[in-house]
Amino acid sequence: MKVLLVLASALIVCVSNTVGYNYKEVIQKSLLFYEAQRSGKLPSDQRVTWRHDSAMNDKGVHGEDLTGGYYDAGDFIKFGFQMSFTVTVLAWGLLDHYKGYEAADSVENTRKAIKWGTDYFLKAHVSENVFYAQVGSGWIDHINYWGRPEDMTEPRPAYMINVTNPGSDLAGETAAALAASYLVFKDVNSTYADILLTHAKQLYSFGYKYRGKYTDAFDDVRCCYNSSGYEDELVWGAAWLYRATNDSTYLQYIADVYTPIQYYIGFNWDQKIGGADVLLAKLTGESKYLTKMENYCDNMLANQQRTPKGLIFIAEWGSLMTTAYLMEICLETAALGVNAAKYQAEAKKQINYMLGDTGFSYVVGFGDKYPLRVSHRAASCPDPPAKCDWTQYSSPDPNPQVLTGALVGGPGVNDDYEDVRADYVHNEVDTVYNAGFQGVLATLIELGYSD
Ligand SMILES: *[C@@H]1O[C@H](CO)[C@@H](O)[C@H](O)[C@H]1NC(C)=O
Ligand SMILES: *[C@@H]1O[C@H](CO)[C@@H](O)[C@H](O)[C@H]1NC(C)=O
Ligand SMILES: *[C@@H]1O[C@H](CO)[C@@H](O)[C@H](O)[C@H]1NC(C)=O
Ligand SMILES: *[C@@H]1O[C@H](CO)[C@@H](O)[C@H](O)[C@H]1NC(C)=O
Repeated sequence: MKVLLVLASALIVCVSNTVGYNYKEVIQKSLLFYEAQRSGKLPSDQRVTWRHDSAMNDKGVHGEDLTGGYYDAGDFIKFGFQMSFTVTVLAWGLLDHYKGYEAADSVENTRKAIKWGTDYFLKAHVSENVFYAQVGSGWIDHINYWGRPEDMTEPRPAYMINVTNPGSDLAGETAAALAASYLVFKDVNSTYADILLTHAKQLYSFGYKYRGKYTDAFDDVRCCYNSSGYEDELVWGAAWLYRATNDSTYLQYIADVYTPIQYYIGFNWDQKIGGADVLLAKLTGESKYLTKMENYCDNMLANQQRTPKGLIFIAEWGSLMTTAYLMEICLETAALGVNAAKYQAEAKKQINYMLGDTGFSYVVGFGDKYPLRVSHRAASCPDPPAKCDWTQYSSPDPNPQVLTGALVGGPGVNDDYEDVRADYVHNEVDTVYNAGFQGVLATLIELGYSD
């Protein structure tokens, strides 16, 4: 009997190693994270019920309604550049991995996550050449307040880009988000989709005609996210508009702005060229794009530093999402017939690292052991009317609210990680983090890799 039990448990260990993880459940949970990040008036079908209406007075300098959209991370700023990239990537995943989302029973909730962003962009785009880039100040928000978004009383200035202070990067990325979302909605609600496409075209023209980096347009954003250049967003935005319209003018725009992009560090909130190349490879069939992707992925898989436990390690801050974005573009490359088995196996391995292969899941609420003290103000607060302030920030207790589905920043180069609120480099969450991660999960589900 004893022998049998030992055998049985050995078998279970063996099976659990080969079967892997329920990626569908992870996608479902990830979508809850997006609900937890909602700003403004929450809808009646809101599932994360410890969150309530907040920032209901967000407005532009002429009183324009800027409520809605997403809080970026554990803080309460609405950063347009991060938000638009998040929406582009979510829409990309849903468009190209619809079957994966369908298998995860998550098409509807992903559309809602996208629309929560696009509805806000429509408000923020107050006229053809004026777009609100940010609401809330990095300097005020980060220093002065720890608590619930529902209780916030600090000033929330709004910052814009316009013809005298342009932001081609921000306009290009938002155009990409709106064009990709047009494709998501065109068979769902063509009226809504057409509105998105009109704004996408206007924002792109604005960004193309009036050149500059949005981080040079106003100071506040430099607290947090500097932009290294705008050419990549102009390529990326044009690629999405070309996909949405088939209008070859956009290919001409790409030819005009592509050359100054000298360096190549893949795909993330600041660097769009890796995503643009693989999208253009698919849309144009031109081998120059695909060759670049193959060289890049091969080089990253062979030569990039890895942690002792096997995570491809690119950046200390947000190590996991950085790797997820790499995997996303390599999976897109694989889908075009390049080194498919190799890239797909690596993507699975990297995602499994994140979900528990080291004995710890970096996704809140997934698996047995996961982060309990993510650096997230709202989740750190007990239910009202209990007070919430810097006491919660320093408290060693687990967050009273479970921020289900959030992927944390992740470990350092030696697989080192501590579950403490103060460590925002490794233990904060971000709307950007989950977007590429979700795209990879949907692809892996399509490939039949989900438990
Ligand atoms: C244009 O944008 C800049 C930067 O946000 C701002 O300081 C300026 O007031 C804006 N101009 C107008 C006319 O609104
Ligand atoms: C379609 O979108 C339009 C524009 O946003 C909206 O007014 C309308 O209610 C939507 N239709 C449905 C069926 O949701
Ligand atoms: C962004 O750039 C400004 C000015 O060059 C600098 O002061 C700031 O520290 C930078 N911020 C980040 C987050 O890198
Ligand atoms: C673009 O062209 C493709 C291939 O010819 C076609 O399938 C698609 O419907 C076209 N899209 C638009 C928006 O015209």
